[in-house]
Amino acid sequence: MSILNYCAKLNEQNEMFPSVFDYAQEHKVPIIDADSLNVLKHQLRLMNRKRILEIGTAIGYSGLHMLSVADDIHLTTIEKDKTLHDIAVENFKTHGALSRVNAICMDAKEIDPDALGHFDMLFIDASKANNQFFFEKFEPLLDESGIIIVDNILARGLVIEDEITNKNLNKMVKKVDAFNQFVATSEFHASFLPVGDGLLIISR
Ligand SMILES: C[S@@+](CC[C@H](N)C(=O)[O-])C[C@H]1O[C@@H](n2cnc3c(N)ncnc32)[C@H](O)[C@@H]1O
Repeated sequence: MSILNYCAKLNEQNEMFPSVFDYAQEHKVPIIDADSLNVLKHQLRLMNRKRILEIGTAIGYSGLHMLSVADDIHLTTIEKDKTLHDIAVENFKTHGALSRVNAICMDAKEIDPDALGHFDMLFIDASKANNQFFFEKFEPLLDESGIIIVDNILARGLVIEDEITNKNLNKMVKKVDAFNQFVATSEFHASFLPVGDGLLIISR
């Protein structure tokens, strides 16, 4: 067992939304890893975040978990796939959270950010190659003390591979790395964490 697997095991908790988790596993819907989810929820709790913008709803799994941290958290979440969006809305409804959710079915690249409001946390978990685009587009919606969390910044370990023969995969990984390097050399404060598929926490 690697040291990361050791921590991942310790981070595992009783699943709060087993039917949503099982659906994701069964239908191969990508959802956040358990240890990244722990860090994400811990940040929400510690920093008392109340207005979250999520890019990449999928079936609402991470959204439900974030909303579970406190009853006064509100979530705006964007998903471009109509089928997944509809399942997410159903999941929010089933778990009594829909009144605290603004679930938008749209390509986040197309959306007018000014129509969304203001937030104290931005969670980017959509197409990895667009991390930079989403960061630049939605970061201005955050309050001065807002934080940004980005999932999958290690692209399942491919960010340190020199030779990736698949051209599209190579292009995606280069974009993930370019965004990571951009943040690392920017004036933002950043923590690159090797949990799950890599979690990046950014503040101003
Ligand atoms: C990794 S999944 C999100 C998982 C979810 N946050 C969770 O942990 O439960 C990424 C989702 O982003 C969606 N997505 C990708 N590109 C998008 C875009 N440009 N606009 C909106 N959604 C997008 C995909 O359809 C997919 O459902």
